[in-house]
Amino acid sequence: MSSRSLNVVAEAVTLPATKPAENSSQSISVIGLGYVGAVSMACLASLGHRMIGVDIAEEKVQQIKHGRAPIVEARLGDLLAEGVVARRIDATTDLAQAVHDTDVTFLSVGTPTAADGGCDLTYVLDASRAIGAALACKDGFHTVVLRCSVPPGTTLDVVATEIAAVSGKRLGRDFGVAFNPEFLREGVAVADFFAPSKTVIGASDKRTEEIVARIFSGVDDHVIFTSIAVAELVKYVDNVWHATKVAFGNEVGRLCKGYSVDSHDVMNIFVQDKKLNLSSYYLKPGNAFGGSCLPKEVRAVAHLARGLGIDLPLVESLIPSNVSHLKHVEKLLEPYAGRHIGFLGLTFKASTDDLRESPTLDLMAALHAAGWQVSAYDGNVQPDERLAAKLAAARSSRPQLNRFLDRMPSLLVETAEQLVGNAGVLIVSHASDEFRRAVAARAPNIHVLDLVRLYRSLPQDQAYEGVAW
Ligand SMILES: NC(=O)c1ccc[n+]([C@@H]2O[C@H](COP(=O)([O-])OP(=O)(O)OC[C@H]3O[C@@H](n4cnc5c(N)ncnc54)[C@H](O)[C@@H]3O)[C@@H](O)[C@H]2O)c1
Repeated sequence: MSSRSLNVVAEAVTLPATKPAENSSQSISVIGLGYVGAVSMACLASLGHRMIGVDIAEEKVQQIKHGRAPIVEARLGDLLAEGVVARRIDATTDLAQAVHDTDVTFLSVGTPTAADGGCDLTYVLDASRAIGAALACKDGFHTVVLRCSVPPGTTLDVVATEIAAVSGKRLGRDFGVAFNPEFLREGVAVADFFAPSKTVIGASDKRTEEIVARIFSGVDDHVIFTSIAVAELVKYVDNVWHATKVAFGNEVGRLCKGYSVDSHDVMNIFVQDKKLNLSSYYLKPGNAFGGSCLPKEVRAVAHLARGLGIDLPLVESLIPSNVSHLKHVEKLLEPYAGRHIGFLGLTFKASTDDLRESPTLDLMAALHAAGWQVSAYDGNVQPDERLAAKLAAARSSRPQLNRFLDRMPSLLVETAEQLVGNAGVLIVSHASDEFRRAVAARAPNIHVLDLVRLYRSLPQDQAYEGVAW
């Protein structure tokens, strides 16, 4: 850790290569001087902003006030010391005064795990009420930026609501709220601040959005603007993804060790694949996975590990997760019981005639067994001389579908128009222009359940529903 008191600031501190905030400099209070708050204080001050830190812990306040890092974090002490010398950093336990003396308040108190496993919002709630009390006797527009990791809805339903209730001020007119997640990694937090992986802002109004974006203009010109709820969820999703990657890497490691294979050799090759492995491919919510490879190989790897007595709970969870996705689709269909279900697309993905372990075929069979009327159209699965071979392949991978597959040819229709003409509900399992046209041409009372995100922007259509959006 590099922490020095104000009187021992002697040598020059190398500043990060960022643009100075110049005209965009703001006066900002930061509530909560832990890992996130202390780094924000130091780095925003070095961008030229005037910072007042607030904490209930007197010791942290004194350390920041005197340019010392309250935590171990590379370069933090240097930047804090420099900010204090430049009179851009101060700290206090008086939250009301700090809010009163600034235009923007960053909220970075802790959000620990609650007794029930959820997110404990006690500190967020207390701080929001205190901000509200401070704003009750402050004139002018004030911006409150939540930087804690919180469940979706917290910024508006907890922070803004409490501030409005306590202050008597109105959101959008007297104050604005934004959610601006913090993506820093402890240990390299200062470096991450000046070279962020991304900057995401969800704000209650345009004015607030611009104020927050200006604060970061020195380090990121390509801010991602989105809704508050999306910004809140992005933070949670990121960390769940990171945890998934660590758990996955470790399960690969345990399996490799069981086979005396160097796991780092395996993963060093794995990470070189930026087309399929480390890319957005396979990551967008949509249909369950299927086909001739993924389910088979997941089963094979789980079996290998079991044979060696190696526990791979993440790998073991993949098939159950896939099955639960199809159960979710069945649940979405419950309100339409009695209607004829038409499947647009039958194979496990578009542009193939492979029916092996198609999740759509599994779904169709399950609904058929439950007594629903079903039919399907797929340009690559037509009732012609090649169908028998496709069904034979499907049978070999799913013997339990034997009886359904006997009936299947009679449930196929030859055109999308024919299918749409008979159906009361359409299930779309391939994203193609042909199916977009078919959906657009349907009668308005035909419900659409989209498993593949046919449209980037969601249609304003009561009879359209996405499987996971
Ligand atoms: N630590 C990280 O690497 C990291 C990264 C990204 C996001 N986050 C999120 O940021 C938030 C803060 O995390 P942290 O690690 O900095 O927490 P922390 O526990 O280190 O710091 C929180 C600080 O808030 C202070 N505090 C609590 N109530 C207060 C109040 N009413 N007024 C003033 N100060 C108050 C506490 O005394 C403490 O110093 C959490 O939601 C966390 O999930 C943390």
